[in-house]
Amino acid sequence: MSNITSEDLFKNIISHAKEYGFIFQSSEIYDGLSAVYDYGQNGSELKKNIREYWWKAMVQMNENIVGIDAAIFMHPTTWKASGHVDAFNDPLVDNKDSKKRYRADVLIEDHLAKIEAKISKEVEKARTRFGDSFNEETFRTTNARVLENQKKIDEINMRFKNALEVGDLNEVRQIIIDLEIVCPVSGTRNWTDVRQFNLMFNTQLGSVSEESSTIYLRPETAQGIFVNFLNVQKTGRMKIPFGIAQTGKAFRNEIVARQFIFRMREFEQMEMQFFIKPGTEMEWYKHWKDVRLKWHRSLGFPETVHRFHDHLKLAHYANAACDIEFKFPFGFKELEGIHSRTDFDLGNHEKFSGKKLQYFDPDSGQSYVPYVIETSIGLDRMFLAILSQSYAEEKLEDGSERVVLRIPEFLAPVKCAVLPLVKKDGLPEKAREIMDRLKFDHLCQYEEKDSIGKRYRRQDAIGTPFCITVDHQTLEDQTVTIRYRDSMVQERIEVGSIEKILIDKVDMKKALRQISG
Ligand code: GAP
Repeated sequence: MSNITSEDLFKNIISHAKEYGFIFQSSEIYDGLSAVYDYGQNGSELKKNIREYWWKAMVQMNENIVGIDAAIFMHPTTWKASGHVDAFNDPLVDNKDSKKRYRADVLIEDHLAKIEAKISKEVEKARTRFGDSFNEETFRTTNARVLENQKKIDEINMRFKNALEVGDLNEVRQIIIDLEIVCPVSGTRNWTDVRQFNLMFNTQLGSVSEESSTIYLRPETAQGIFVNFLNVQKTGRMKIPFGIAQTGKAFRNEIVARQFIFRMREFEQMEMQFFIKPGTEMEWYKHWKDVRLKWHRSLGFPETVHRFHDHLKLAHYANAACDIEFKFPFGFKELEGIHSRTDFDLGNHEKFSGKKLQYFDPDSGQSYVPYVIETSIGLDRMFLAILSQSYAEEKLEDGSERVVLRIPEFLAPVKCAVLPLVKKDGLPEKAREIMDRLKFDHLCQYEEKDSIGKRYRRQDAIGTPFCITVDHQTLEDQTVTIRYRDSMVQERIEVGSIEKILIDKVDMKKALRQISG
């Protein structure tokens, strides 16, 4: 494990995800569809559990947040009002030699990441050299090489930001040329012009013979919330500040689809729009940054795997925005976005629909279009974060090896495996009896095939936190062995106590308490 490169580690995680029924390439028998994936028997459980944890943390734990489930198809004017028809674009550039197409911003970001990596290398070298007396902040603000590289990053960022702000695509191309960025495939700098490409998929509503109109597959779930703002506010008698949450599919015609389920063409979002009084947005923006980071940290991963990243290029709707980034095997990347969207969306829907979307404030007697703070997380990305952080290849004391998924217990696809030691002597019947009791509360698995060691390994590989083994002693004294996934420790416990132990360890409540306190 220790010598493995992060690239190899990522490859191993991807093959593990397939081998153990977490994720399959979509329509694999037809050689798959690029950047589209299916979740298998274990993947769909893990995904459902993550969704449930998000939903409970947002809706169940907050009296002023309610959930909805809007349709994927929406009136086409929605996307005119939201700005997606005109501005939901990626700047693309082709390499004339390899004929490969890239996102210009990704080429520049990758270049910046290389400079960033140089800085990190300097920092780590100095940390080793100075030991305990090392002060990272002082080093970063005084070391000449670090400062020089940081200056380069800042200059590129500033130039890039300015170019995007004024929509100067020639300048974006010039940055790529000036930074001497080469195509990873051809190795040349023979770039075409940079041009904008809209990411929305469209289709026709109605049959061809009748009058048909172009509609879009939603590129974000948020607009289903905005157009229902007044419906929910009125029927739920919601008072500002309040939130509307939603989970569901979103679609984007991503040009650079890579890194497994990190960037997909069909994916799922978990979004919450929090409606507030104009002028209070910075206070609520900070609030939701803190709340969402706490949610991520409640999974018990090291604090170093999360960091905030402020947006340089603000989306067309935002006046402040940041990402919570996660340390994926391929580096720190966006996991969740927190955006202060002002009254951009509601204001535009008012304009385009001709309907008032205002809140009447009973305290002041005034009506206004609320401002919005949005939290938006990709469920698939969250899945990848948990999968990659949980995956471990271990060498055991006896020289054998195991792959284990240390998924937080309450999110694990299967909570407990019930295993008769042998397939005879009444042990399967006893194990079935236990299984029949546990299945009302948890997804459990009954397994009697292969040696007990092999069965433990299979359960480790799918992240099952507990294995209950029924042996001959069980029939005599009503005790079983419980084996813990992470420590591999085995304990003898009474059959009657299994349910309590399980509830104690796999209940989502504990994690929810941690974030609500
Ligand atoms: N409503 C705001 C919005 O959609 P975004 O930053 O474009 O903002 C929010 O997307 C989150 O959705 C991202 O942080 C990411 O987790 C997820 N996401 C976006 N595009 C994705 C894609 N192509 N594949 C998987 N997840 C994606």
